[in-house]
Amino acid sequence: MVLDKFSLKGKVGIVTGGGQGLGLAFCLAFAQAGADLVVAEINEETGPETVRKIEKLGRRALHVKTDVTRPESAEDMVRQAVEHFDRVDFLMNNAGITIWGEAENVSEADWKKVMDVNLNGLFYCSQAAARHMIERKQGSIINIASMSGLIVNKPQCQASYNASKAAVIHLTRSLAFEWAPHNIRVNALAPGYMDTEMARPFFEDPKTGGVWMDAIPMKRPGKPEELGPAAVYLASQASSYMTGSTLVIDGGYTIW
Ligand SMILES: NC(=O)c1ccc[n+]([C@@H]2O[C@H](COP(=O)([O-])OP(=O)(O)OC[C@H]3O[C@@H](n4cnc5c(N)ncnc54)[C@H](O)[C@@H]3O)[C@@H](O)[C@H]2O)c1
Repeated sequence: MVLDKFSLKGKVGIVTGGGQGLGLAFCLAFAQAGADLVVAEINEETGPETVRKIEKLGRRALHVKTDVTRPESAEDMVRQAVEHFDRVDFLMNNAGITIWGEAENVSEADWKKVMDVNLNGLFYCSQAAARHMIERKQGSIINIASMSGLIVNKPQCQASYNASKAAVIHLTRSLAFEWAPHNIRVNALAPGYMDTEMARPFFEDPKTGGVWMDAIPMKRPGKPEELGPAAVYLASQASSYMTGSTLVIDGGYTIW
Protein backbone atom coordinates (compact mmCIF):
# COMPACT_ATOMS: atom_id res chain seq x y z
CA MET A 1 0.00 0.00 0.00
CA VAL A 2 1.20 3.47 -0.79
CA LEU A 3 1.71 4.73 2.79
CA ASP A 4 3.82 1.66 3.58
CA LYS A 5 6.44 3.04 1.17
CA PHE A 6 7.04 5.94 3.59
CA SER A 7 7.74 3.67 6.53
CA LEU A 8 11.26 3.67 8.00
CA LYS A 9 10.48 0.75 10.30
CA GLY A 10 13.63 -1.32 10.83
CA LYS A 11 15.83 1.28 9.10
CA VAL A 12 18.93 2.92 10.57
CA GLY A 13 19.83 6.52 9.81
CA ILE A 14 22.50 9.06 10.70
CA VAL A 15 21.65 12.75 11.11
CA THR A 16 24.57 15.19 11.34
CA GLY A 17 23.97 18.26 13.49
CA GLY A 18 20.95 16.57 15.04
CA GLY A 19 21.23 18.36 18.38
CA GLN A 20 18.98 21.32 17.67
CA GLY A 21 17.00 23.27 15.08
CA LEU A 22 16.14 21.50 11.87
CA GLY A 23 18.37 18.52 12.70
CA LEU A 24 16.34 17.81 15.83
CA ALA A 25 13.08 18.08 13.84
CA PHE A 26 14.46 15.66 11.23
CA CYS A 27 15.48 13.17 13.96
CA LEU A 28 12.00 13.23 15.49
CA ALA A 29 10.33 12.82 12.08
CA PHE A 30 12.56 9.84 11.20
CA ALA A 31 11.93 8.27 14.62
CA GLN A 32 8.16 8.74 14.24
CA ALA A 33 8.44 6.97 10.88
CA GLY A 34 10.11 4.02 12.65
CA ALA A 35 13.88 4.56 12.25
CA ASP A 36 16.66 4.03 14.79
CA LEU A 37 19.16 6.87 14.67
CA VAL A 38 22.70 8.00 15.19
CA VAL A 39 22.79 11.65 16.24
CA ALA A 40 26.14 12.81 14.86
CA GLU A 41 26.53 16.06 16.72
CA ILE A 42 29.60 18.07 17.75
CA ASN A 43 27.79 19.49 20.80
CA GLU A 44 28.05 17.07 23.72
CA GLU A 45 25.01 18.50 25.52
CA THR A 46 22.45 18.73 22.73
CA GLY A 47 23.41 15.42 21.05
CA PRO A 48 22.46 13.28 24.09
CA GLU A 49 19.30 15.41 24.63
CA THR A 50 18.12 14.50 21.13
CA VAL A 51 18.89 10.84 21.89
CA ARG A 52 16.59 11.01 24.93
CA LYS A 53 13.80 12.58 22.82
CA ILE A 54 14.12 9.83 20.21
CA GLU A 55 14.06 7.12 22.90
CA LYS A 56 10.85 8.64 24.30
CA LEU A 57 9.30 7.88 20.89
CA GLY A 58 10.23 4.22 21.40
CA ARG A 59 13.16 4.12 18.99
CA ARG A 60 16.83 3.35 19.64
CA ALA A 61 19.39 6.14 19.34
CA LEU A 62 23.10 6.78 19.86
CA HIS A 63 24.99 10.07 20.13
CA VAL A 64 28.34 9.99 18.36
CA LYS A 65 30.40 13.12 18.95
CA THR A 66 31.22 14.10 15.38
CA ASP A 67 33.05 16.98 13.78
CA VAL A 68 32.00 16.71 10.14
CA THR A 69 34.98 18.84 9.06
CA ARG A 70 37.39 16.03 10.01
CA PRO A 71 37.40 13.02 7.65
CA GLU A 72 38.51 10.67 10.45
CA SER A 73 35.56 11.83 12.57
CA ALA A 74 33.18 11.15 9.67
CA GLU A 75 34.66 7.66 9.34
CA ASP A 76 34.31 7.07 13.07
CA MET A 77 30.65 8.19 12.87
CA VAL A 78 29.88 5.46 10.33
CA ARG A 79 32.03 2.86 12.10
CA GLN A 80 30.20 3.42 15.40
CA ALA A 81 26.81 3.39 13.66
CA VAL A 82 27.60 0.02 12.04
CA GLU A 83 29.05 -1.40 15.28
CA HIS A 84 25.98 -0.35 17.25
CA PHE A 85 23.15 -0.90 14.76
CA ASP A 86 24.74 -3.29 12.25
CA ARG A 87 24.19 -1.05 9.22
CA VAL A 88 23.33 2.42 7.88
CA ASP A 89 20.36 2.73 5.54
CA PHE A 90 20.32 6.50 5.18
CA LEU A 91 22.45 9.53 5.97
CA MET A 92 21.15 13.04 6.37
CA ASN A 93 23.85 15.70 6.01
CA ASN A 94 22.23 18.49 8.01
CA ALA A 95 25.11 20.18 9.92
CA GLY A 96 25.66 23.66 8.57
CA ILE A 97 26.68 27.17 9.63
CA THR A 98 26.29 30.74 8.38
CA ILE A 99 28.66 33.67 8.94
CA TRP A 100 27.37 37.00 7.68
CA GLY A 101 29.74 39.65 6.33
CA GLU A 102 30.40 41.76 3.25
CA ALA A 103 32.41 39.79 0.71
CA GLU A 104 35.17 42.41 0.57
CA ASN A 105 35.71 42.13 4.34
CA VAL A 106 35.20 38.44 5.05
CA SER A 107 38.29 36.84 6.62
CA GLU A 108 40.00 33.83 5.13
CA ALA A 109 39.26 31.92 8.35
CA ASP A 110 35.52 32.66 8.19
CA TRP A 111 35.32 31.81 4.49
CA LYS A 112 37.08 28.49 5.06
CA LYS A 113 34.99 27.67 8.15
CA VAL A 114 31.71 27.94 6.23
CA MET A 115 33.05 25.90 3.31
CA ASP A 116 34.51 23.34 5.69
CA VAL A 117 31.26 22.59 7.53
CA ASN A 118 28.72 23.10 4.73
CA LEU A 119 30.57 21.58 1.78
CA ASN A 120 33.73 19.69 2.77
CA GLY A 121 32.12 18.11 5.85
CA LEU A 122 29.09 17.06 3.85
CA PHE A 123 31.43 15.38 1.36
CA TYR A 124 33.48 13.56 4.04
CA CYS A 125 30.32 12.17 5.67
CA SER A 126 28.84 11.15 2.32
CA GLN A 127 32.07 9.41 1.34
CA ALA A 128 32.32 7.51 4.63
CA ALA A 129 28.67 6.42 4.44
CA ALA A 130 28.87 5.52 0.74
CA ARG A 131 31.82 3.17 1.32
CA HIS A 132 29.56 1.20 3.66
CA MET A 133 26.46 1.54 1.45
CA ILE A 134 28.35 0.38 -1.66
CA GLU A 135 29.16 -2.88 0.17
CA ARG A 136 25.46 -3.30 1.00
CA LYS A 137 24.35 -2.15 -2.47
CA GLN A 138 21.74 0.22 -1.05
CA GLY A 139 21.34 3.56 0.63
CA SER A 140 19.83 7.02 0.57
CA ILE A 141 21.75 10.23 1.23
CA ILE A 142 19.88 13.47 1.87
CA ASN A 143 21.81 16.73 1.76
CA ILE A 144 20.38 19.79 3.44
CA ALA A 145 21.08 22.57 0.95
CA SER A 146 19.08 25.81 1.13
CA MET A 147 17.14 28.10 -1.16
CA SER A 148 20.36 30.17 -0.82
CA GLY A 149 21.92 27.69 -3.24
CA LEU A 150 19.41 28.86 -5.85
CA ILE A 151 18.92 32.57 -5.10
CA VAL A 152 20.81 35.32 -3.28
CA ASN A 153 19.18 36.34 0.00
CA LYS A 154 18.65 39.95 1.00
CA PRO A 155 19.44 42.12 2.92
CA GLN A 156 22.20 40.12 4.68
CA CYS A 157 25.53 39.50 2.94
CA GLN A 158 26.47 35.80 3.07
CA ALA A 159 28.42 34.98 -0.09
CA SER A 160 30.24 32.04 1.51
CA TYR A 161 26.98 30.43 2.64
CA ASN A 162 25.26 30.96 -0.72
CA ALA A 163 28.25 29.55 -2.62
CA SER A 164 28.53 26.56 -0.27
CA LYS A 165 24.85 25.67 -0.70
CA ALA A 166 24.98 26.04 -4.50
CA ALA A 167 27.93 23.65 -4.40
CA VAL A 168 25.92 21.21 -2.27
CA ILE A 169 23.20 21.13 -4.93
CA HIS A 170 25.69 20.33 -7.70
CA LEU A 171 27.64 17.88 -5.54
CA THR A 172 24.31 16.12 -4.96
CA ARG A 173 23.94 15.60 -8.72
CA SER A 174 27.56 14.47 -9.10
CA LEU A 175 27.32 11.89 -6.30
CA ALA A 176 23.92 10.73 -7.58
CA PHE A 177 25.56 9.98 -10.94
CA GLU A 178 28.53 8.15 -9.42
CA TRP A 179 26.62 6.07 -6.91
CA ALA A 180 23.45 5.20 -8.87
CA PRO A 181 25.08 1.96 -10.12
CA HIS A 182 25.46 0.97 -6.45
CA ASN A 183 21.76 1.56 -5.77
CA ILE A 184 22.52 4.62 -3.63
CA ARG A 185 20.23 7.62 -4.15
CA VAL A 186 21.48 11.13 -3.36
CA ASN A 187 19.02 14.02 -3.13
CA ALA A 188 18.96 17.48 -1.59
CA LEU A 189 16.34 19.37 0.39
CA ALA A 190 16.44 23.17 0.02
CA PRO A 191 14.49 24.94 2.77
CA GLY A 192 13.59 28.60 2.80
CA TYR A 193 13.50 30.62 6.02
CA MET A 194 12.56 28.38 8.93
CA ASP A 195 11.40 29.46 12.36
CA THR A 196 14.25 28.05 14.46
CA GLU A 197 15.47 29.51 17.74
CA MET A 198 18.51 30.88 15.93
CA ALA A 199 16.45 32.60 13.22
CA ARG A 200 13.70 34.02 15.45
CA PRO A 201 15.59 37.16 16.64
CA PHE A 202 16.24 38.10 13.01
CA PHE A 203 12.56 37.64 12.12
CA GLU A 204 11.66 39.90 15.04
CA ASP A 205 14.12 42.60 13.90
CA PRO A 206 12.39 44.70 11.18
CA LYS A 207 15.73 45.36 9.44
CA THR A 208 15.94 41.68 8.50
CA GLY A 209 12.57 40.11 9.29
CA GLY A 210 10.59 42.78 7.44
CA VAL A 211 12.58 42.32 4.23
CA TRP A 212 12.41 38.53 4.55
CA MET A 213 8.67 38.47 5.13
CA ASP A 214 8.03 40.75 2.12
CA ALA A 215 9.83 38.23 -0.07
CA ILE A 216 7.91 35.16 1.11
CA PRO A 217 4.64 34.71 -0.82
CA MET A 218 3.16 32.70 2.08
CA LYS A 219 4.06 35.56 4.48
CA ARG A 220 5.46 33.36 7.22
CA PRO A 221 8.58 31.34 7.98
CA GLY A 222 8.28 27.56 7.83
CA LYS A 223 8.08 25.48 10.98
CA PRO A 224 10.91 22.93 11.31
CA GLU A 225 8.38 20.11 11.59
CA GLU A 226 6.98 21.08 8.17
CA LEU A 227 10.18 19.67 6.63
CA GLY A 228 9.86 16.30 8.39
CA PRO A 229 7.48 14.58 5.95
CA ALA A 230 9.68 15.52 2.97
CA ALA A 231 12.74 14.18 4.77
CA VAL A 232 10.94 10.89 5.43
CA TYR A 233 9.95 10.79 1.75
CA LEU A 234 13.58 11.19 0.65
CA ALA A 235 14.92 8.63 3.13
CA SER A 236 12.30 6.02 2.33
CA GLN A 237 11.22 3.82 -0.57
CA ALA A 238 8.52 6.41 -1.35
CA SER A 239 11.22 8.23 -3.40
CA SER A 240 12.69 5.06 -4.96
CA TYR A 241 13.02 6.57 -8.47
CA MET A 242 14.35 9.96 -7.34
CA THR A 243 18.04 10.80 -7.38
CA GLY A 244 20.13 13.91 -8.04
CA SER A 245 17.12 16.13 -7.34
CA THR A 246 16.67 19.13 -5.08
CA LEU A 247 13.34 19.49 -3.34
CA VAL A 248 12.60 23.15 -2.55
CA ILE A 249 10.35 23.94 0.45
CA ASP A 250 10.35 27.69 0.90
CA GLY A 251 6.80 29.10 1.16
CA GLY A 252 7.24 30.25 -2.44
CA TYR A 253 10.36 32.42 -1.91
CA THR A 254 12.10 31.25 -5.08
CA ILE A 255 9.13 31.69 -7.46
CA TRP A 256 10.05 35.32 -8.24
N1 LIG B 1 17.16 27.56 9.68
C1 LIG B 1 16.91 27.91 8.44
O1 LIG B 1 16.13 28.84 8.17
C2 LIG B 1 17.58 27.16 7.31
C3 LIG B 1 17.16 27.41 6.00
C4 LIG B 1 17.76 26.71 4.96
C5 LIG B 1 18.74 25.78 5.23
N2 LIG B 1 19.13 25.55 6.50
C6 LIG B 1 20.17 24.54 6.73
O2 LIG B 1 19.66 23.57 7.62
C7 LIG B 1 20.73 23.00 8.37
C8 LIG B 1 20.40 23.13 9.86
O3 LIG B 1 20.22 24.51 10.17
P1 LIG B 1 19.68 25.02 11.58
O4 LIG B 1 19.02 26.32 11.33
O5 LIG B 1 18.96 23.94 12.26
O6 LIG B 1 21.08 25.33 12.30
P2 LIG B 1 21.49 25.26 13.84
O7 LIG B 1 22.67 26.16 13.99
O8 LIG B 1 20.32 25.48 14.72
O9 LIG B 1 21.95 23.74 14.01
C9 LIG B 1 23.11 23.26 13.37
C10 LIG B 1 23.61 22.05 14.14
O10 LIG B 1 24.81 21.60 13.49
C11 LIG B 1 25.79 21.34 14.50
N3 LIG B 1 27.14 21.51 13.93
C12 LIG B 1 27.75 22.67 13.59
N4 LIG B 1 28.99 22.42 13.16
C13 LIG B 1 29.16 21.07 13.22
C14 LIG B 1 30.24 20.21 12.91
N5 LIG B 1 31.41 20.68 12.47
N6 LIG B 1 30.07 18.88 13.06
C15 LIG B 1 28.89 18.39 13.53
N7 LIG B 1 27.85 19.15 13.86
C16 LIG B 1 27.99 20.48 13.71
C17 LIG B 1 25.50 22.36 15.59
O11 LIG B 1 26.07 22.00 16.83
C18 LIG B 1 23.98 22.37 15.59
O12 LIG B 1 23.45 21.38 16.43
C19 LIG B 1 21.99 23.76 7.95
O13 LIG B 1 22.66 23.03 6.95
C20 LIG B 1 21.43 25.05 7.39
O14 LIG B 1 22.30 25.66 6.47
C21 LIG B 1 18.57 26.22 7.57
